Amino acid sequence: MNPVILGIESSCDDTSAAVIEGDTILSNVIAGQTVHEEYGGVVPELASRAHQQNIIPVVHKAMKDAGVKSEDISAVAFTRGPGLMGSLLVGTSFAKGFALARKIPLIEVNHLQAHVLAHFIQEPEQKHTVPEFPFLCLLVSGGNSQIVLVRDYLDMEIIGQTIDDAAGEAFDKCAKVMGLPYPGGPLIDKLAQEGNPEAFEFSKPRISDFNYSFSGLKTSFLYFLRDNVKKDPDFIEHHKKDLCASLQKTIVDILMNKLVAAAKKTGIKEIALAGGVSANSGLRQAYITGKEKYGWNIYIPKFGYTTDNAAMIAITGLFKYQNKEFAGQDVAPFARMAL
Ligand code: KG4
Repeated sequence: MNPVILGIESSCDDTSAAVIEGDTILSNVIAGQTVHEEYGGVVPELASRAHQQNIIPVVHKAMKDAGVKSEDISAVAFTRGPGLMGSLLVGTSFAKGFALARKIPLIEVNHLQAHVLAHFIQEPEQKHTVPEFPFLCLLVSGGNSQIVLVRDYLDMEIIGQTIDDAAGEAFDKCAKVMGLPYPGGPLIDKLAQEGNPEAFEFSKPRISDFNYSFSGLKTSFLYFLRDNVKKDPDFIEHHKKDLCASLQKTIVDILMNKLVAAAKKTGIKEIALAGGVSANSGLRQAYITGKEKYGWNIYIPKFGYTTDNAAMIAITGLFKYQNKEFAGQDVAPFARMAL
């Protein structure tokens, strides 16, 4: 019989619970937090308070949607880190209590590893092809930009990563200087569809190996706007779509240039995408181009599994359950945690 795993995610500003049976997802409930909108970014204290309010109703709904009772759960997996400490503590404490009460194994999950393993989540009605090992995964979110070499489910190595801002941060910070609300990534993407990606040229970093840097782009974008707004106060308004399209092209080019180099160097043609920025239409198109140009097999997860969600925690929990990698009741969350 397949194990039934309850997954809990509370690393940032989404409270999520999911139930998986084997690798088949039965439910995935996500409660977002609107309380941060007026601050232009996540406020940690408000996030942990909202997690406390959400966690029990979210877990209840996940079990109800899955049609399981607490006695059907074989193990509980939770995000140990990386993330906001106050937020992580809520999910960790809940998972510990649940495991203790039900006398079932407790499984700690690395949030980054879970983003990569989201590719292995299967839907009940329709199975999809999964990446073959070894594969490369570009993990791009509000907090991460990494190229991960995945040798096996639980054997991964970061071969390139950002030395400053993450790609999502670059989208959000540049959106902010254009006066767009947080998070700006999806809005830039939307506006970019109607703009000219060649209208403006922004600086690209020269950085060694497969690493990334986005802080220089952010600064050059800021100075470019400042100089042009001096000449025309309505410059941003007049050129918003072209600015978004050109900025998006620059970020996607930066991401893809290193990924292409990593694929060439390793000889790997199984190329996956993960994290919130994988919703970006320019990046998705660049993957399709990669498939045509380099013969890659590309893997882009379903939208619901790209942003923070507990389904990816539950599937990672499954692989650790199969390996009998369990945590003790003394496990503590980590705000910073490497792969
Ligand atoms: O993985 P995620 O949900 O959580 C964090 O790491 O916080 O990623 C959120 C990030 C934000 O920076 C958001 O602006 C970005 O993903 N994002 C996008 C798009 N959708 C979300 N960036 C560019 N284009 C998009 N369509």
